Amino acid sequence: MTLEEKASLCSGGTMWTTKPIDRLGLPSITLTDGPHGVRMADPNSGLNGLNASLPATCFPTAPALAATWNLDLIREVGEALGQESQTHGVQILLGPGANLKRSPLGGRNFEYYSEDPLLSGSLAAAWIKGVQSKGVGASLKHFAANNQEWERMAGDSIVGPTALHEIYLRSFEIPVRLASPWTIMCAYNKVNGEFASQNKTLLTDILRDDWGYEGIVLSDWGAVDDRVKGVEAGLNLEMPSSGGYNDRKIVAAVQAGELEESILDQIVTDMVAITLQAHAGIPKDATFDEAAHHALARRVAAEGAVLLKNENATLPLSEKRDRSIAIIGEFAKRPRYQGAGSSQVNPTQLDNAFAELTDMLGSDLSLTFAQGYDWEGATTPEQLHEAEQVARVADHAIVFIGLPDSYESEGFDRASLELPEGHNQLVESVAAVSKRTTVLLMNGSPVAMPWIDQVDAIVEAYLGGQAGGGAIADILTGAVNPSGKLAETFPQRIEETPTYPNFPGRDRTVLYGEGVFIGYRHYDAKRLEPLFPFGHGLSYTTFELSELELSGKDIEADAGLELKVTVKNTGSREGAEVVQVYVGENDPEAPRPVRELKAFKKVFLKPGESQTVSLQLYRDAFEQYDAEREEWIVRSGEYTISVGRSSRDLPLESTVSVDGGKLPLPPLTPMSTFAEVERHPTGKPIYDNFIAQMQGDQPKLEDLNLSPDDYAAAKKARETMLVFLREIPLQKLVMLSQGAFTEEAMQGIIQAINSAESDSFSD
Ligand code: BGC
Repeated sequence: MTLEEKASLCSGGTMWTTKPIDRLGLPSITLTDGPHGVRMADPNSGLNGLNASLPATCFPTAPALAATWNLDLIREVGEALGQESQTHGVQILLGPGANLKRSPLGGRNFEYYSEDPLLSGSLAAAWIKGVQSKGVGASLKHFAANNQEWERMAGDSIVGPTALHEIYLRSFEIPVRLASPWTIMCAYNKVNGEFASQNKTLLTDILRDDWGYEGIVLSDWGAVDDRVKGVEAGLNLEMPSSGGYNDRKIVAAVQAGELEESILDQIVTDMVAITLQAHAGIPKDATFDEAAHHALARRVAAEGAVLLKNENATLPLSEKRDRSIAIIGEFAKRPRYQGAGSSQVNPTQLDNAFAELTDMLGSDLSLTFAQGYDWEGATTPEQLHEAEQVARVADHAIVFIGLPDSYESEGFDRASLELPEGHNQLVESVAAVSKRTTVLLMNGSPVAMPWIDQVDAIVEAYLGGQAGGGAIADILTGAVNPSGKLAETFPQRIEETPTYPNFPGRDRTVLYGEGVFIGYRHYDAKRLEPLFPFGHGLSYTTFELSELELSGKDIEADAGLELKVTVKNTGSREGAEVVQVYVGENDPEAPRPVRELKAFKKVFLKPGESQTVSLQLYRDAFEQYDAEREEWIVRSGEYTISVGRSSRDLPLESTVSVDGGKLPLPPLTPMSTFAEVERHPTGKPIYDNFIAQMQGDQPKLEDLNLSPDDYAAAKKARETMLVFLREIPLQKLVMLSQGAFTEEAMQGIIQAINSAESDSFSD
């Protein structure tokens, strides 16, 4: 390849394709969004597909997928998406989104799974495995710390090392290690001062060197800042085309000796490999079964619906009790079913709940409808009056509300937790006159529910995709027993959320000041009562968890731990429960979350059936990132294992003593303190000697003939001095001791201790 040809592979040829090299027979590849459907540009639209795309199945959006907690099902969705990609000639599908939900106001939360890295990462891995099983590549996005829309192309996410590794990167590390995505899309934002698109720490040191990633990294559309730096950092492909602008810069940098050609060669070798791989897997005449995919979308949407509240068995609808039903709200006929922006799919068909319910309930029940509000969420006295009229005479009023398109979208964050005022007014008016009220929510992220105590049942249906209407009918009628569990916390008030008032940031800086305390980790640490906790979701049947057994009470971290727990369906309907396992260190050295999700399993049970499920905890269930050592460690000590059905409903608990092995002490530097010198076995005598010498230079208090009070004060002052001294970095003492502690003495101490490092361990 010529230098120009190599550079040409470093950026796209069009909005959705890479450049071919005809001379060498290297074809181009087609990439398209992602993530809940294939948004293949309509070649006749002339608009790059932004507004017009070919029909494809619109699957439920990420929060609904996540609420299934069902990895096999998500893999099935991935397979279906892979098949549709094949059919449309797409080689790379731009998804899944593995960014975490740092604030419920994140404008793109409907494209992301969860506030928890294990759940998010596991779901992303299942999705990728499904798509890639069809010979189509995934693009895990947006790497990394891209958790808001405000100033998304310019903001700098300032994340401390512990939160970065344990939370934000973990959600990517899991799918990278488990599912090897063909591509990873870097984020628009800066991470700790450097654009993600040219961040060598992220793209090379962590992604490739630490995690062993072998695929390519492409830029989010327009995320490139300095293309040459990007090549050096490990960014293979700039998307979309920059019209040759950056290719010329790469050529010039190599010619000027500013960019080593060997680095470019590696970037290009990866590009050639992915192109060949992409073309190896695509059958020419692929098709997909629209009806089967629609049915799958319905099954997933039903499994992803979360029954938040259900007083007095208000749901499911009862043939005897609910003879007349009032369906209220525009969304029942014209659903909100996906989010706005690059993920928008042109569905093959679109269900609405009103029509589906009419079909399912048959003609001997009376079903009435009132619109309640307009598409933007505003209501009028006439609309409220009409709604009250139908609700008053019905046995059961079901109010469909949620967030209109204009409230949540890619490109901007939500202004508040509130639903449109018209929706709240509608619920309150209906609840005041109706015998029983169910609220059906369609939204991509948590909302405030000021009317929560006035209604009997609440179903969170999320943005359920094209078959969401049928799925809602399945849930309301009881054809499907709800088993969805929240993958995110619903807060009471925005002021109680982890990022308040730091979200979305200012001056182009986003401070992740809450550290690792995101989502339930925050509510648990602060003992705040959320509206609905992470992991919550009711069923039409009941479950009992019992007999928690651990394979050991005293274990070595490397050996891990097996858990057994018995789940029984104690009600009268078939249903599914998600067994959730949380782990917390009892006496952490530095603040850690009270407990963190470390394993989960969804169990399907017939009435009366019980099953003993086994869950495995590995070393990483106990690990924490140690910023000083720049590695993962396990601190030896007691850990609490809690098992239950939500982060706040944990009926089973046990403790285990974990041996994390010896921890090598971090090497000393001139900024190490005397306290750190003392921690080292080799440092202890040096420290003692130093203190003794310092004390020896001082007159003994006993010799000073002090009054008892003065003696006590002087003693205290010397002790305080010692406390101060222990916290002074060695290098500072060189300056402050006026020659008593020399630079040479300091270097001597550091060298003596560091050379004996391999023998130095902390407890
Ligand atoms: C979005 C990506 C998307 C890309 C291509 C960007 O604006 O952030 O998620 O894949 O556009 O549409």
